[in-house]
Amino acid sequence: MTVATTVTATTVTAVEAATASETAACAGLDERIRRNPGAHRVLTGDRPTGPLHLGHYFGTLQNRVRLQRLGVEMFVVVADYQVITDRDIADRLSEHAENLVLDYLATGLDPDRATIFAHSAVPALNQLLLPFLSLVSVSELSRNPTVKDEIAHSRQSAVSGLMFTYPVHQAADILFCKADVVPVGQDQLPHLEVARTVARRFNERYPHPDGTAVFPRPEGLLSAAPLLLGTDGTKMSKSRGNAVALAADEDTTARLIRSAKTDTERRISYDPATRPEVSSLVLLAALCQDRRPEEVAEEIGDGGGAALKRTVTEAVNEHLRPIRALRADLAADRGYVRQVLRDGAERANAVADATLDEVRAVMGSV
Ligand code: TRP
Repeated sequence: MTVATTVTATTVTAVEAATASETAACAGLDERIRRNPGAHRVLTGDRPTGPLHLGHYFGTLQNRVRLQRLGVEMFVVVADYQVITDRDIADRLSEHAENLVLDYLATGLDPDRATIFAHSAVPALNQLLLPFLSLVSVSELSRNPTVKDEIAHSRQSAVSGLMFTYPVHQAADILFCKADVVPVGQDQLPHLEVARTVARRFNERYPHPDGTAVFPRPEGLLSAAPLLLGTDGTKMSKSRGNAVALAADEDTTARLIRSAKTDTERRISYDPATRPEVSSLVLLAALCQDRRPEEVAEEIGDGGGAALKRTVTEAVNEHLRPIRALRADLAADRGYVRQVLRDGAERANAVADATLDEVRAVMGSV
C-alpha cells in the first residue's frame, strides 16, 4: 500500500458508503443540466491558500469551464474565511486571493458570466451562518468525517471553533445564492450533506406563508477527478510541494517532473493498482494530450522513467502554454483582477441581501 492510500483513507472510507449511489445520481444530474442549463445555478469555490495545480485543473477547473460553456449560471467563492479554520494567521491572504482569480481567469472562467467573489466581501452571506448554526447539533458537527480528517492532520495543538462550524458556513456559501448544483470532490460530500440538511430543516421550520420553501436542496455533482499523485507519490497537495502549479514556468515544471518518483521496471505501462507513480505520470500526459493512457504507455514502451518524464514534461508544458501566457498577461494588470473581485462582490451582495431579507421575513425578524 502506498503512502497516498494511507493518507487519504480516512476520508475515503468514511464517505465510501455514499459513493456508488452518489455517482449514479450525478450521472443523472449531469444529464439534466445538459438538457436545461438555464434551470440550474452552480456554486463552487476554493480556499485561497496557494497556487492551483494540475490536480485542481483536471479535477475541477476544466469541469467548471465546461458548465459555464453549457450556459449554467455560476458563482465561485474565494473562501477566505475558510482559510483561518486551522491557521493562526492567514498569510498573504489578498495575494493568494488574487492569484486564485488569475488561475480561474487563465483557465477560462469568464467574469462576465461567472460571479467571482470573496467571503469577506459579502456580509449578508456571513450573517446566514447564525440561523444556520441553530439548525445543527454539536454532535452532528463533531461527526463530520472530513473535519475529523483535517483535525487529525492539523499541525495545530488546539482545534478552533471554526474548524467544527465551517461546513455550516459553507452551507451559507451554497444557499445564499440558492445554488442547486455543487461540483464536488469526494472529500466535500459530507459538507454538501450539511448544506442539504440545513436547507431541509430551515424550510421545515420557516416556510413562506404560502407554504413554499426558501431554499433548494443542493445536489453534488461528483467530478470524475482523475487520481493524480504528487511527484513524491503521495496525494497531490498545495502544502506538500509535490505539485506542478498552473502558474509555474516551464523549467520549474521540468525540474519537478524530473524529480518524480517512478519504479525500476523499464517497460512503461498503465496500471494504477500496481504501479501508482508511473501510472499517474502516464495519466497526466494522456490528460494533457487528450489521449488514452494505455496509448501513451505503449508509445513510450521500453523507454523507462526518463523517457516517460520527457514525454510528460513536454505534454504538460505544451498544454499549459496558452493558459500560462494568458495568465501572465492578466497578472500584469492587478487592477483588473481586483476589479473582477469588486464586480463579483457587487453581484453577490445584491443576491445575498435579497436572500437575507427573505430569511428575516420568514423568521419574523425585524
Ligand atoms: N471547502 C472547499 C475546499 O476546501 C472550498 C469551498 C468553500 C467550497 N466553500 C465552498 C466548495 C462551497 C464548494 C462549495 O476546497
